[in-house]
Amino acid sequence: MNVQSYFSKNIIDALKNNPPGEWMTDIPNGCIRLNSGYPAPELIPVHQFKESVVRLLEKEQDLPFHYLGSPGMENLKQSIQKRLSERGITVLEEELLITSGACQAIDLIARILVDDETVIAIEAPTYMEALEVFQNYTKRFISIPVDEQGMQTHVLEEVLAERESRGKPLPCLLYTIPTFQNPTGTTMKEDRRQHLLDLAEKYNFLILEDDAYGELNFRKCPPPLKAMDREGRVLYVGSLSKVVAPGLRIGWIAGLPDFITALAWFKKDLDHPFAQASMATFLESIDFEKWLNYIRSTYQLKSSILISAMKQHLPKSVTWYEPEGGYFVWVKITGINTSELLIHALSEGVSFVPGKYFFLDHNNGTAFLRLSFSYANKNEIVEGIQKLGKAVKLVLNNS
Ligand SMILES: Cc1ncc(COP(=O)(O)O)c(C=O)c1O
Repeated sequence: MNVQSYFSKNIIDALKNNPPGEWMTDIPNGCIRLNSGYPAPELIPVHQFKESVVRLLEKEQDLPFHYLGSPGMENLKQSIQKRLSERGITVLEEELLITSGACQAIDLIARILVDDETVIAIEAPTYMEALEVFQNYTKRFISIPVDEQGMQTHVLEEVLAERESRGKPLPCLLYTIPTFQNPTGTTMKEDRRQHLLDLAEKYNFLILEDDAYGELNFRKCPPPLKAMDREGRVLYVGSLSKVVAPGLRIGWIAGLPDFITALAWFKKDLDHPFAQASMATFLESIDFEKWLNYIRSTYQLKSSILISAMKQHLPKSVTWYEPEGGYFVWVKITGINTSELLIHALSEGVSFVPGKYFFLDHNNGTAFLRLSFSYANKNEIVEGIQKLGKAVKLVLNNS
């Protein structure tokens, strides 16, 4: 049977893209995982969560198991509204939609805003899974470079002006991770944030702000774009994956009610009442600010261990951006193709993600790699960087 002949045209086109998850190399057992954007295993609140689930079931019995879920789910919305207000974002209940993680949120936004005519502006580099999602809907992209101060909005302005003067289509949507970006770890400075919002108004596009790492700041950082958004142009996506646990799949979208209504229309019940009610009970049971301070300081320590190990074990020619929060460090090794380096690194016993996967065109970013300090423990981080140093020297000496 020719299965392809049953697919819709959009799906046939999407299936021509690179398959999802290409960057997930097979990692040999025992290899130190400096590739994983996962939370530290010791920071998953297993025991507190277990107690919350027990408490939920004692209180609500069968309710969380039903389609419509339990009253606990409303409490989740309230907890998220409270967290958002602490970041300067005020949202009403009808301006908030709970999703199965930030990934479902991104997919839903693409689903209601993007068709194959739509131009999307993205950062280069950017989060590869968002790239995969967008490529399922359109092939028309504008890539705007990122430096240590985040997206280069002056480049965006030049590109938009040039497209306008030539009568080329302008973007309807711009996707950005302004705070502790994946993969660069950089944060967009406040004047660039204002510039971006001004450009969105002038050229009439919406902004998808992905704030998956926004609460993991090591020091004071600029407000989210959503907190500076006066017109409702920002669709703000958040997640509890990086600060509680990714397997619960809890994220959200904050935006104008008309967007939320359309998004909810397509989300239907493709999320998890039980996980949401359990999370709500968990959030009520802990001092979340205290929890955040604890995980922030743990990640800050791990990031400084990683940076010191890099200073000690990598050649002087290797450079990186120092992160102010989040999970990642973006490293440049001039003269090396990091996909080739990965083969040597894996045989030394350490993994990372080659830079090319974070670009639309995989010919870019070949001198870069993404290291994560979140998942590996402190000793592994040091050992992993020693191993990486060995692999780098080997490849440089052979070139
Ligand atoms: C920038 C960014 N957005 C979204 C996600 C996914 O979040 P979630 O687990 O909530 O789907 C990730 C996870 O790596 C990420 O790095």
